[in-house]
Amino acid sequence: MAEKIKVLLSEEEVDSKIKEIGEQISKDYEGRQVHLVCVLKGGSFFMCELAKRITVPVSLDFMSVSSYGSDTKSSGVVRIVKDLDEPLKGKDVIVIEDIVDSGHTLSYLLEMLKNREPASLRLCTLLDKPERRVADVHVDYTGFQIPDEFVVGYGLDYDQKYRNLPYIGVVEFE
Ligand code: IMP
Ligand code: MG
Repeated sequence: MAEKIKVLLSEEEVDSKIKEIGEQISKDYEGRQVHLVCVLKGGSFFMCELAKRITVPVSLDFMSVSSYGSDTKSSGVVRIVKDLDEPLKGKDVIVIEDIVDSGHTLSYLLEMLKNREPASLRLCTLLDKPERRVADVHVDYTGFQIPDEFVVGYGLDYDQKYRNLPYIGVVEFE
C-alpha cells in the first residue's frame, strides 16, 4: 500500500518543545542525578535530544518491549524483548517514550519498574493521544497532545519506516 506523509509538527516545533521539557526537568531535578530509561526503538530519537537539553547529571539505560506487530492497532500484548542493563534501586528514574496511545505498554511497564524500587519514577512522552486511552497512565511530562491519527517520524515508525524523519507526520493511506 502506498502512503503519503503530511507534516503535523515541524522540526522547529518539536525541537523547541524538547528544549522546554529539558529545562523543566533540569529545574525539577536540581541537585540530583536523573536516570533516563528509553523505551526502544521509538523513544531513542527523543531521548537523545532531550538528554542534551538536561543540565543536571544524566545516566541512560534502554529497554525494549513489544506491543505492536506491523499493524497500526495495539494488540494489548506486552512482551519484554530487551531488559535494562542496570538496577533501578534508589535512582530517580524517568521513562522516556515516543507516544502514549492505549496506555497498555506503559501501565504494564511502569508497574514492573516500580517493583525494582527506584527512589522516584516519572514518565515523559513526546506525544500523547488521550482519546485513545484504555489503561490508566499518569504522564508527568508531555510534549504534545495529538488527535487520534497514526503518526510517524522522530522515532515513530510505520512498518519500521520513517523513524528518521526530523518532524512528526501523519500517514495518509492512498
Ligand atoms: P500503547 O500501548 O497503545 O499506548 O502504544 C504503545 C506503542 O504503540 C507506542 O510506544 C508506539 O510504539 C506504538 N504507537 C502507538 N501509536 C502510534 C502511532 O501513531 N504511530 C506509530 N506508533 C504508534
Ligand atoms: Mg514506543
